[in-house]
Amino acid sequence: MSPHDRHADRIEELLSQMTLEEKAGQLNQEPSTVDVPIDMVEKGLVGSLICANSAYAGTDRQARVRAAALNELQRVAVERSRLGIPLLFARDVIHGHRTVGPIPLGQAASFWPEGVRRLAQIAAREARADGIHWTFTPMLDIARDPRWGRIAEGFGEDPHLASVMAEAVVRGFQESGLHTMSGMAACAKHYVGYGTAEGGRDYNTGEITPTTLENVYLPPFRAAAKAGVATVMAAFIEFDGKPATANGEILNGILRRRWGWDGVIVSDWNAVAELVHHGVAEDLAHAARLAILAGVDIDMAGGAYWRHLPELVRAGKVPQEVLDEAVRRVLRLKAACGLFDDPYTPEDAALVEIPDEHRTAARELARRAIVLLQNKGGLLPLRPGTRIGLVGPLANPAVRETFFGTWTLDGEEQDMTDILSALRSHPGPKEVWHALLPDEAVAQARLCDVVVAVVGEWRHRSGEDNSTTTLDLPPGQTELLQYLGKIGTPLVAVVAAGRSLALEPVLEAADAVLFAFHPGLESGPAIVDVLMGDAEPGGRLPVTFPRCLGQVPIYYNHKNTGRPVPNFRYRYVDRPDSPQFPFGFGLTYTAFEFRDLSVQWDPDGLRASVTVANTGGRDGEEVVQLYVRDDVASISRPVKELKAFRRVAVPAGGEVRVELTVPRNDLGFLDGEGRLHLEPGTFTVWVGPNSAEGLEARFRFEP
Ligand code: NOJ
Repeated sequence: MSPHDRHADRIEELLSQMTLEEKAGQLNQEPSTVDVPIDMVEKGLVGSLICANSAYAGTDRQARVRAAALNELQRVAVERSRLGIPLLFARDVIHGHRTVGPIPLGQAASFWPEGVRRLAQIAAREARADGIHWTFTPMLDIARDPRWGRIAEGFGEDPHLASVMAEAVVRGFQESGLHTMSGMAACAKHYVGYGTAEGGRDYNTGEITPTTLENVYLPPFRAAAKAGVATVMAAFIEFDGKPATANGEILNGILRRRWGWDGVIVSDWNAVAELVHHGVAEDLAHAARLAILAGVDIDMAGGAYWRHLPELVRAGKVPQEVLDEAVRRVLRLKAACGLFDDPYTPEDAALVEIPDEHRTAARELARRAIVLLQNKGGLLPLRPGTRIGLVGPLANPAVRETFFGTWTLDGEEQDMTDILSALRSHPGPKEVWHALLPDEAVAQARLCDVVVAVVGEWRHRSGEDNSTTTLDLPPGQTELLQYLGKIGTPLVAVVAAGRSLALEPVLEAADAVLFAFHPGLESGPAIVDVLMGDAEPGGRLPVTFPRCLGQVPIYYNHKNTGRPVPNFRYRYVDRPDSPQFPFGFGLTYTAFEFRDLSVQWDPDGLRASVTVANTGGRDGEEVVQLYVRDDVASISRPVKELKAFRRVAVPAGGEVRVELTVPRNDLGFLDGEGRLHLEPGTFTVWVGPNSAEGLEARFRFEP
């Protein structure tokens, strides 16, 4: 029997004993591990704590949390509050805890859900040992605008890829049981449509049509709900005049009633109070009423619920059952996390050293998150015995922490090996020189055999509230590459960033370009593995790369329009309308050929098989991608949609037959009311290495 079933009677008993103030207290999440309001905990006015000291935990370095300190707080709740209900401790464990993996956008680039699940499992173990029960990940916001800094935190532009990764993260955190020392409650956020923020300005209003909401923005959340995610966070954003925090149609309506999901909904930081700024609530009390009626169970750091819910219930403005049901859900979550069995965390469990197996998992995922965008003359992998000049602002060992990327609360710089040390300890190069200043870099470039320039974005240039008006490299970096490129020594650019960038000048200046979405703890070794050819550059782009900012929004699964034909098309007069790199793109160190595509339709779904041959000279991995187009439907459908993918290893000279299946319902679409339409007719199918290439076939869909 699960802990939450075992404690069902206790939960009802508690509910019958609680005052309205204590009930509202269970729905109150207080910030800070430093200034915890102990008197409120004693009075039962705090249900959970977010272990962060500011609203910007993603960019502000946070104090470490220790089980001993959290146990002390827990003792106050358990021993000194009237009913002794334990506190739930939450923290943003976003892409790893002490073992920091690639940022989520990089995880998506791996197209390797198994590796993503493993990273989440490791994070759960490490964070749980520090006393944390609940994390605010995965972020499932589809993002089509790289100006939006939070594109770093999600899985990119594609609903299918994001759905697969959603399930992987939820399983990784939760599958061993929330009550175990290797499980934590996950949180699917930000529900929903946060990525539509206009102009890429964080928190801005978005516009979403009903069918786009249903077919693009909701599917990853549906996947997380199906995988049993314990909690969901409402988004800051509003669309159609309704802030998500007060939107009963999407919270109680879609999430709870339509999908039958019965977990806890938490607001984002202060978002209940911010309903006043949105102009839909007169004051804090009104905001509390709107949010609880819409379905938000926990008020994160807003102070609206504990202050106003009791009076709202007494005045008949919020039904008692609504409050009770929210409290019941929170108590069930506490029971599921094992807090009614043992509310304390063993104080000797925390990690002292990062175990090798955790490092290995982070390194394997990082290698597969690095994308090779250009490789003129097969410059990469670098030949043994060369003299390498390592230059560029991000090659400086002193800034290695930047490779953690955004939302790294518990990674520690001293655990990282920087690129320079990793390269110097590699047996391959004859010599590795390093220059800090651009002038020295240029001087060295004249003398060495190959220059590796590491450039890109600092970790705080992406993430929450870090939007940009440019997709260029930060000032001075493009010029450095252009200068180095003119010297004549072969040039490799390693670009590390938290978003897609417009790389045209980089591609012109450099012979080879590796793109690494901030790859985390093992960045140095993983980048060197790829540079030296100990590993393939395993990543494929989880977002379309534009040629320039003016093309944004640009995404592969767009509509065809009425004027797609040459000379009579929707286009720009000054630039091509095609992207720099399509979704799914990534080169390898070997060569793959796709042959003999066969597709079969049966009532369960589509089955496709294809032969992938490695015609190059090295063993390698290919990400086999299947896209479909519904040729004619009652509403227009995208020109292509990813429906299945598989990462396969193929030895040099070998071939494998790869089977891919698409369940019947995945070939349908939802209308604006969420009704599934399965319409008979022809579909085009492509199976290939990215969204712009592949073998083509057709089949007739007969649902
Ligand atoms: C605000 C962010 O939007 C959210 O993603 C995060 O989980 C909370 N702050 C808590 O830090």
